[in-house]
Amino acid sequence: MEEKHKKIIDKLIKYKQEDILKTIDKFSNEEKENILNQIENINFEQLEKLYKKIDVKKEDKCIKIEPIEYIEKENISIEEKEKYNQIGTKTIKEEKYAVVTMAGGQGTRLGHNGPKGTFDFGLDSHKSIFEILCENLKEAYEKYKIYVPWYIMTSKENNKETKEFFEKNNFFDYPREKIIFFTQEQLPMLNEKGKLIIDENKDIKQAADGHGGIFVSMRKDNIVEDMKKRNIEWVYIGGVDNILAKMVDSVFVGLAIEQKVLAAGKSAVKACPEEKVGVFCKKNGKPSVVEYSEITKEMSEERDVNGQLKFGESHLLCNLFNIDAIDEISKDKLPYHAAYKKCNYINNNGELIIVDKPNAYKFEAFLFDAFESLDKITVLRVRRKEEFAPIKNAEGKDSPETARELYNKFHKIGG
Ligand code: UD1
Repeated sequence: MEEKHKKIIDKLIKYKQEDILKTIDKFSNEEKENILNQIENINFEQLEKLYKKIDVKKEDKCIKIEPIEYIEKENISIEEKEKYNQIGTKTIKEEKYAVVTMAGGQGTRLGHNGPKGTFDFGLDSHKSIFEILCENLKEAYEKYKIYVPWYIMTSKENNKETKEFFEKNNFFDYPREKIIFFTQEQLPMLNEKGKLIIDENKDIKQAADGHGGIFVSMRKDNIVEDMKKRNIEWVYIGGVDNILAKMVDSVFVGLAIEQKVLAAGKSAVKACPEEKVGVFCKKNGKPSVVEYSEITKEMSEERDVNGQLKFGESHLLCNLFNIDAIDEISKDKLPYHAAYKKCNYINNNGELIIVDKPNAYKFEAFLFDAFESLDKITVLRVRRKEEFAPIKNAEGKDSPETARELYNKFHKIGG
C-alpha cells in the first residue's frame, strides 16, 4: 500500500470512519483513488465536534430574546429621507459601495436543475433571476453614473455553471471587470451515525456550508482585500432569490452611516406566524435573527398589546455591512447549525439507495449570526410589495407565480 493511502486509512480508523472502506471496496482503482484524495482534505476533528453538538439541546433558558427596535421607512420625514439620500448618494458616487449576491445555495425546493440565479421564472421576457438582479444595478448606473462592483458568491457545486451562464449571456452587458466571482467552502454531510456518505457520483457527499461561510470565503479568496483596494466602505449582501431586492438604496446606506452602525438589515412585517422567514430580534441584548427553522411556535405566535406579532420583523436577507465589520468578522468562522436533509447514497453493497425522507446532516453557518458580534444594527422596515418577492418553492407560496405577480405589479406602479 502506498504510504499516502496508509496515512489516510489510519486517519479513517482514528476517527471511526473506516466503514467507508467497505463501501468503496468494489470501486475501480481510479474511483478509490478519487475518494481517498477527497478524504485527505477533510477536517475530521471539526466534523466530530459538529456531529457531537447535534443532540446537545441549546441552553435556551439563559438566552433572553426580545423584540428589536426598527425604523419604518414610511414614517421617515421627507427632510430626513433627503438627508439620508444625500449621504448615501455621496458614498455610492465616490465608488465606496459594492454589492454581493449569495448564490451558493442548491435551490432544492424550487426543483430547478441548475443554479437558482439561472432560473427563468416566467416573465414574458424570459429573463433569468440573475438578469433581473443585474437590471437593478443598471438602474443604479442610470441614477448615479457609477457601475457598482457586483461580487457573486457561488459554491463548489454550482461555480462552473454559474460562470458559464454569465459568459453565455455576455454578463448582461454589465462591465465585465465589475463582476467578480468567489466560491464558498463546503463540508461533508454525515449520516445519522455520524459517518461519511458516498453519493451517486461516487464522491464523498459534501455541501455548501451555508451563507455564513461568506465572510471567511471573502477573506480566503482575497475579496476583502480587493474591496479595500477599491476603497469600498459599504457592502450590500443579499440572497439571490428576491427579484424585488433594491440592491443600491441610498437612503438605506445614508441611514446606516448617520446612525453610526456597522451593519443594517431590511425587514418587512411578517405576513403570518407560519411564514418561512427569519425574524430580527435581540439575543441577550445583541442584534440577531431567529431563523424560521429554529423559532418556537410560541414565540412565532406571540402578540404585543396592539395585536401585532411581537417578533414580526421579517429578515429579508437584504443586509448592509461596513467593510470594517467584514474585516473583523471574516477572521473567525461563524457557528454551524445542523439541518436534517435527504441524501441519496451508495451502501456497502455498492447499491445506490434513493431516499424519500431525511437521513443525513448538513452543516450550515448563517450570515446573520454575525450581527451578534455587533452592539447595534439598524433595522429598516420597508414595504413588502416594494422590496420582497422571493422565489423559493416550485408552487404555492413564494413561488415563480407569486413572485412574477409582485414583480409585474411593482413595475407597472413604479414605472
Ligand atoms: C432565507 C433566510 C431567512 C429569510 C429568507 C428571506 C437563511 C438561512 N435564511 O431563507 O432568514 O427570512 O431567506 O427570503 O438565509 N446560500 C448560499 N450558500 C449556502 C446556502 C444559501 O449562497 O450555502 C444563499 C442562497 O443561494 C440564497 C440565500 O443564501 O440566495 C438563502 O438561502 P436559503 O438557505 O434557501 O434560505 P431561505 O430558506 O430562503
